[in-house]
Amino acid sequence: MPTSSAHAPTAFFPSPETMEVLITKEQLAKRTREIGAQISTDYEGQSIVLIGVLKGAAIFLSDLARAIKVDNTFDFVAVSSYGRARVSSGAVKLIKDIDNPIEGRHVILIEDILDTGLTLNYLRGLMLQHKPASLKIATCLDKPDRRLVPIEADYVAFKIPNQFVVGYGMDYAERYRGVEDIRIFPDEAVH
Ligand code: PRP
Repeated sequence: MPTSSAHAPTAFFPSPETMEVLITKEQLAKRTREIGAQISTDYEGQSIVLIGVLKGAAIFLSDLARAIKVDNTFDFVAVSSYGRARVSSGAVKLIKDIDNPIEGRHVILIEDILDTGLTLNYLRGLMLQHKPASLKIATCLDKPDRRLVPIEADYVAFKIPNQFVVGYGMDYAERYRGVEDIRIFPDEAVH
């Protein structure tokens, strides 16, 4: 019998419909289009590499890529996860590296959420070792109040207060990533 949190009985988790909506799917679609247009202007005539941080960034990357009108390719990295914990352990470890070289390329790291900043700070340092022509960061959500290291994103869809959210790629115990809008996960449901 599996015992990991991802295999816990479904009834153990609140239904997404019971959670308060923080950002609607319409707001997400609008801001993603705006950021895609901004990136298309900023990189006009150039080719860019979009590097998504698995797993949370997968949905934002997929929407953003379709809003970017300049030549682009995808790559993905994976780092150690929070797992079920709602706060960062502080330790970041690379689990999956980029597949293709980025030396001399224009790179945008894509995240679902910039929280303490530990993940992006680590990844930025790692990517800079590959000597890209430029490196920027795009994040769907930014929680500036939670920052532990000084790092800012170049493109931010929404700044949010310090609330734990799920949906649009973001999970609790691997659930809710496919929820279309961003919802506030209730404190009383934490286990
Ligand atoms: C989340 C998110 C970022 C990171 C941000 O990932 O996707 O990668 O936390 O937090 P930080 O700024 O405090 O470092 P998580 O570990 O939950 O993994 P996931 O993307 O697979 O959900």
